Amino acid sequence: MEDPYAAVAERYDLFFERLDAYPKAEVAFFRDVLGADAPRRVLDCACGTGRYLPLLHSLGHDVVGMDISPAMLDRARRNLDALGLDIPLHQGDMAALPAEWRGAFDAVTCLSSSLLHVPNEAALARVLRSMAGVLRPGGLLVLTQGTSDRQAREKPRFLLARDDAVVTRLFAIDYRPPGATYHVLDVYHGPERKGLEVWSTEYARLWLRDDYARLFEKTGYTDVAFYGAYDRAPYDAMTSHRLIGVAHRPGPRAAMGL
Ligand SMILES: C[S@@+](CC[C@H](N)C(=O)[O-])C[C@H]1O[C@@H](n2cnc3c(N)ncnc32)[C@H](O)[C@@H]1O
Repeated sequence: MEDPYAAVAERYDLFFERLDAYPKAEVAFFRDVLGADAPRRVLDCACGTGRYLPLLHSLGHDVVGMDISPAMLDRARRNLDALGLDIPLHQGDMAALPAEWRGAFDAVTCLSSSLLHVPNEAALARVLRSMAGVLRPGGLLVLTQGTSDRQAREKPRFLLARDDAVVTRLFAIDYRPPGATYHVLDVYHGPERKGLEVWSTEYARLWLRDDYARLFEKTGYTDVAFYGAYDRAPYDAMTSHRLIGVAHRPGPRAAMGL
């Protein structure tokens, strides 16, 4: 099967200046949402190059990463090795998580727009049911994406993703409802490298708050909340630039979760 992230894996990490440095609000969000009283078993679905694995590990949790892309997992393994972290990584489809993981995780995360690769409601329902299947009763699901109702409405053609002394990363976005193609333009202008590199990524569907609310209900999740930022400001469809959804598999929640 073709790996759409094969050409992307070695460039993806340019989103972050350092793989193990995180904005304070993100750290606080994951600390609070997972609870700090006990280690949790956390599955990061579509973990990509492993961006969030060191953060979840640093909070004291037992973390497993999984992704469909061998190239992204290969990069993740090298990233983790460089940090001296031995975190298990699995290749697979988040719509069909392994039967032996049934009920094994306190929390499942799926971060940074990964669900935008899921093409339709039936497929998203399969993904959410698959994630519910590996959660223990009361377990927590956390979804994040950098696209929002506001972006879907205003359709900005260009967005600035990074701009510093080394590189400027710009998105040029073709909106093709229900999805979008993100062309990523990396302009290197640091002392070590100059020039332009361009790559693209396809999002099959820009899922929004009401879609998730409907699909959470359909797939049996409860205690659903939506935030518009990592400081847990409530999601506002008019103004928010980010969409964070949390939901639970029905059951006793213990101390975990908001
Ligand atoms: C935008 S990247 C996000 C990576 C990572 N979560 C992060 O925060 O940097 C999307 C990832 O979703 C993965 N992906 C797409 N469809 C998937 C599927 N069905 N199962 C597992 N991973 C999938 C891709 O291979 C890619 O690594």
